[in-house]
Amino acid sequence: MTITATQAAGPLNVTVNEMVHLLPQTRQLRALHTVIRDRHADLGRFVTTSGRIIRQLIETALDLLPYEPVDVQTPVGETYHGLRPAKPICGVPVVRAGESMEHELRAVSPGVRIGKILIQRDKVTKLPRLYYSALPADIDRHSVLLLDPMLATGGTALAAVEVLLDHGVAEDDIVFVALLSAPEGIAAVHARHPNLRIVTSAIEERLNENAYMIPGIGDFGDRYFGTDVPR
Ligand code: PRP
Ligand code: URA
Repeated sequence: MTITATQAAGPLNVTVNEMVHLLPQTRQLRALHTVIRDRHADLGRFVTTSGRIIRQLIETALDLLPYEPVDVQTPVGETYHGLRPAKPICGVPVVRAGESMEHELRAVSPGVRIGKILIQRDKVTKLPRLYYSALPADIDRHSVLLLDPMLATGGTALAAVEVLLDHGVAEDDIVFVALLSAPEGIAAVHARHPNLRIVTSAIEERLNENAYMIPGIGDFGDRYFGTDVPR
């Protein structure tokens, strides 16, 4: 499946292949998006509704991780041939907006370990700046869910992936989880890391001149944490 987005510079094609997992575009998902994309959504509705979409993204991402067989005995004395994750899981939210996803990951997988990477997009240049990271020393033995709701230019994602690779994590052990993705961001990430899997709930038309996605959602972090209120 090929999604075409029109850019000022010309058409940009993003192939939704096995590396890009777009949530099924159900009517319910579209209704949830309608709530959070509405500029008048209040803080409570924005947090609750984005949380519902993020939960779906997390469940989809968990399904992409490796599993191994395990047998359990049922209460009626029979054997159930089941599965369990083959590796421990580490969630890595990109601070700040990625922390909106940490809560949903912990809710479905309470024993998960959490690393943090603090990257901020420069307000003027839109280039990412890495300030800080704190990751488990043995993160290279984990399946890693890299959590950031916004994949726009892809600069932040690339910088965060670089931190993980520097800590010995293999590219195919990383699943990047994003609520919204721009075709430009997906293309930038896959140009450098073709084996990186991306789970997303929407692929936007394109970026505007300020590197915001359109139709988009505005500044996710400001809206989620309520820091977009004028004095
Ligand atoms: C936003 C967003 C991503 C980044 C995406 O963060 O949460 O981290 O921009 O943009 P990119 O793909 O063009 O790099 P921002 O730096 O605004 O910080 P925030 O999390 O505090 O909102
Ligand atoms: N960050 C956001 O929060 N929104 C965008 O559209 C792009 C980057």
